[in-house]
Amino acid sequence: MTTPSATSVYIHFPYCLRRCAYCDFATTVARDIPRDAYLAAILAELQLRARDLTPAPIATVFFGGGTPSLWGANNVGAVLAWLDRWAGLPADAEVTLEANPGATEFSTLAEYAAAGVNRISVGIQALDDRRLRALDRVHDSAGALGALKQLGELLGAGRLRSASADLIFGAPGQTLADLQADVRRVLDHGLPHLSAYSLTVEPGTPLHQRVERQVQAAPDEDLQADMLAALPALCAPYGLSRYEVSNYAQLNHTCRHNLAYWTGRYYLAAGVGAHGFLPAATPGWLGRRYGNARSHQKWLSAVTRGAFAEELSEDIDAETHLAERVLTGLRLTEGLDLEALRRDVGEPLSQALLQRAHKAIARGRPLQVSGTRICVPGEALHLLDALVLDLV
Ligand SMILES: C[S@@+](CC[C@H](N)C(=O)[O-])C[C@H]1O[C@@H](n2cnc3c(N)ncnc32)[C@H](O)[C@@H]1O
Ligand code: SF4
Repeated sequence: MTTPSATSVYIHFPYCLRRCAYCDFATTVARDIPRDAYLAAILAELQLRARDLTPAPIATVFFGGGTPSLWGANNVGAVLAWLDRWAGLPADAEVTLEANPGATEFSTLAEYAAAGVNRISVGIQALDDRRLRALDRVHDSAGALGALKQLGELLGAGRLRSASADLIFGAPGQTLADLQADVRRVLDHGLPHLSAYSLTVEPGTPLHQRVERQVQAAPDEDLQADMLAALPALCAPYGLSRYEVSNYAQLNHTCRHNLAYWTGRYYLAAGVGAHGFLPAATPGWLGRRYGNARSHQKWLSAVTRGAFAEELSEDIDAETHLAERVLTGLRLTEGLDLEALRRDVGEPLSQALLQRAHKAIARGRPLQVSGTRICVPGEALHLLDALVLDLV
C-alpha cells in the first residue's frame, strides 16, 4: 500500500570530531569516519521507506547532525541525486547542510554548494575563545570567523541562496555586551539568518556533570531571559526579524524546512537516531512518528539487512497532533494558524482550542487572537511553557 509522500526530508549524519559539553544529540565521536558505508546505509534506509510512499517533488532537504560537513560533498551529492531520481528535487527546493568551523576539511563549503546544497547553517556558538573552550567546541574564534567569511563570499557570488549561523547564549561569563558583540560580528558577514539558542543543561552531558559538581556555574536564567528579549533589537539593524523564538531572518530567508516541522507537515527522516513524521498506515490516525535507534550498530545492522531500526513508533491522533501544533505554533511570531489546524484536526477540536484561548485571555493571560491566528506577543515569550499548558 502506498500513502501520500512527505515533501521534506531530514538526513542525520551522526559523526563529530569532538563531543561538545552541552550536546545530547545522537552523535558519535570518530576520527576515522566510515563515510562511504554510511552513504550506503542511508540509501538503503531511504529505499526501504520509499516503498510505502507515493513520491512527490521534494520541497526541502536538511542534512543535520552531528557534523554533516564531515561527510564529503560527493556523498551529500549522491543522496541528493537519489532523492531527485526517486521523487524529483526541483531547482527551487531548499537544501540545507549544517557545517562546523574546523570540521569541513574533507570538502570545502564551496564543494557542498557545487553538489546541490543551497543553504549552509554554520555552528558558530560563540566568538570568544574562553567561552568556546568552556563549551568544548573543536574550533576557536579565528576558525569561526574564517567560516563566516567563506559563507559571506559564497552568498555574495550567488553560489548559495541563503546562509545561517547558530549562536548559544547564556554560557558562563557571557554578558549582554558579549552577546551584542557576537551578533554583530556574525551578521557583519552579510548572513540573512541567525539561530540563537539559550544554553540548556541537558541531563547526562558533561556540562550537567560540571554544574552538579559545581565546577561550572549553571546558566543564569534571568540573564538568559534578558538576552532573549534583547535579540530582536540586535538583529534589526541587519534587516533580520524574529519569526520563531530562537530564529531571525531577512525577508524570504526563513528556514522552510524547520517551518514544515513547526506547521505539522509530514517529513521523511533517515539515519542514526533520526525522527520522522509520516502519514499513518492505519486508517483513523493522523500520522505516525518514528525514531530510529540511537545506537549506530543497531541502526546499521537493521538497514543493511533491509529492516527498519525504529526505537519509537507512535500513531498520532488528532488531539495529540493539536497539542504538538500548539507547542510549535505558539513559538512562531505569526502564531498558530487555526485555519490550517482546522483542515488537519477538524472543526470541533480547533473551535474548542479557540474557546480555551479566549478564556485564557479573559483571565488576563498574555495571548492574542488576531484573524485566524493565536499568538504570544514578543514580551511574553518567557511565559511560553505556561501559555502552552493553558491551551492543551
Ligand atoms: C546538534 S547541533 C548540530 C550542528 C553542529 N554540529 C554544530 O554543533 O554546530 C544543532 C544546534 O543546536 C544547538 N544546541 C545543541 N545543544 C544545545 C544546548 N544544550 N543548549 C543550547 N543550544 C544547543 C547548537 O546551537 C547547535 O548549533
Ligand atoms: S559538534 Fe554539534 S552535534 Fe557534535 S557534539 Fe558538538 S553540538 Fe553536538
